[in-house]
Amino acid sequence: MTSRVFSGIQPTGQITLGNYLGALKQFVALQDQADAFYCIVDMHAITMPQDPSQLKERIKDLASLYLAVGLDPQKSTLFVQSDVSAHSELGWILQCLVHMGELSRMTQFKEKGEGKEAVSAGLFTYPALMAADILLYQSHLVPVGEDQKQHLELTRDLAIRFNTRFGDTFTIPDIMMIKQGARIMSLDDPSKKMSKSNPNPGSRIEMLDPPDVIRKKISRAVTDSDRVVRFDPEEKPAVSNLLTIFSLVTDKSIEEVVAAYDGKGYGDFKKDLGEALVAHLSPIQNRYAEIRNSGEIERLLQLGAEKARATAATTMDIVRQHVGLGS
Ligand code: AMP
Ligand code: TRP
Repeated sequence: MTSRVFSGIQPTGQITLGNYLGALKQFVALQDQADAFYCIVDMHAITMPQDPSQLKERIKDLASLYLAVGLDPQKSTLFVQSDVSAHSELGWILQCLVHMGELSRMTQFKEKGEGKEAVSAGLFTYPALMAADILLYQSHLVPVGEDQKQHLELTRDLAIRFNTRFGDTFTIPDIMMIKQGARIMSLDDPSKKMSKSNPNPGSRIEMLDPPDVIRKKISRAVTDSDRVVRFDPEEKPAVSNLLTIFSLVTDKSIEEVVAAYDGKGYGDFKKDLGEALVAHLSPIQNRYAEIRNSGEIERLLQLGAEKARATAATTMDIVRQHVGLGS
C-alpha cells in the first residue's frame, strides 16, 4: 500500500524561506513516493483576525506557490480546507475528546496569545482542527517544521484515545522533519525562528523577494565576531543557520560548504549565499508569476476539493457510526 502524506500551510502573510525549506521542499520530494494531500488551511488562518478580501487573495497566492515550487496536481491533491466541511465536523468531535489541560500546554497558543487582550477560542482549540485535518485522510506521514512537533504529538495521542474509546478508526500518523532545516532561524536574531509575522522584514527571506532584496537581506544578516565559517549551532548559531540555508539551496553538504570557505571571511560567504538563493528562487518566482495570472488556480482547487471530499467522507461515515452520532 502506498503511504498517505498530509500537510498544510496557513494562507497568512508572505511565505518565507523557513516555510519552504522546513515544509514545502519536503512536500515536493514526497509527492513521487506517496499519495499526498496538501492543504491550504484557511480555517486555521481565521483563528487570528484576517481581512476577508486579503484572505481570498492569499489563498490563491499560496496555491500558486504550491505549483511554482513543483507540486504537480496530477500527483498530489491540492485543496483548500474550508472547501471540505468534514474538517470542521471532525474538528468539533475532536474538541470533545481533547482535554483543556492538553490545549493549555501548547506553546504555539501561548506565543500567539501572549500580550493580546482578546484571544479567540479557535486559537485555543486550533490543535483539534489540525488533528482532524490529518486524521480525516488516514495519513501515515506529516512533513512539518520543528514548531509543529507538539501539535503532531497531540494528534497521535488523540488518535490513540479515539481508537481506544470507540474502536479502531484512525491511522496513527508519524511526524517527518528534516535533520537540518526543520527550524530556520531569523536573519537578525538566531535565537528566534524565521517567521512570517516578525515585524522586521529584514529578519526573513520571503519566497517572492526580488533578487536585490535577497542580496541585501543576506549581506545584513547578523554573524559573529569570530570570522571563521564553521558549523557550530551552540557557539555560532547565526553562521550555522546561514550554512544550513546554503547547504539546502545548493544541495551540497554542510561539510562541503565549510570546506569551500576555509580561510575566507564572511564577506565572500554571504555574497555567494545571496547569489545561490537568487539562483534557486528566481525560477520559482518566474513560474509563480505565470501561474498566478493564468486563471487556472480556481479550477485546480475545485478538482482537489472533490478528491479530498470523497476521501474525507469515507472516514466520516466510520467516525459517525463509531461515536453513535446521527439519525
Ligand atoms: P505556517 O506558516 O505556520 O502555516 O507554517 C507552515 C509550515 O512551515 C509548517 O510545517 C511549519 O513548521 C514550517 N515552518 C514555519 N517556519 C519555519 C522555520 N522558520 N523553519 C522551518 N520550518 C518552518
Ligand atoms: N499548524 C500548522 C502551522 O501553523 C498548519 C497546519 C494546519 C498543518 N493543519 C495541518 C500542518 C495539518 C500539517 C498538518 O504550520
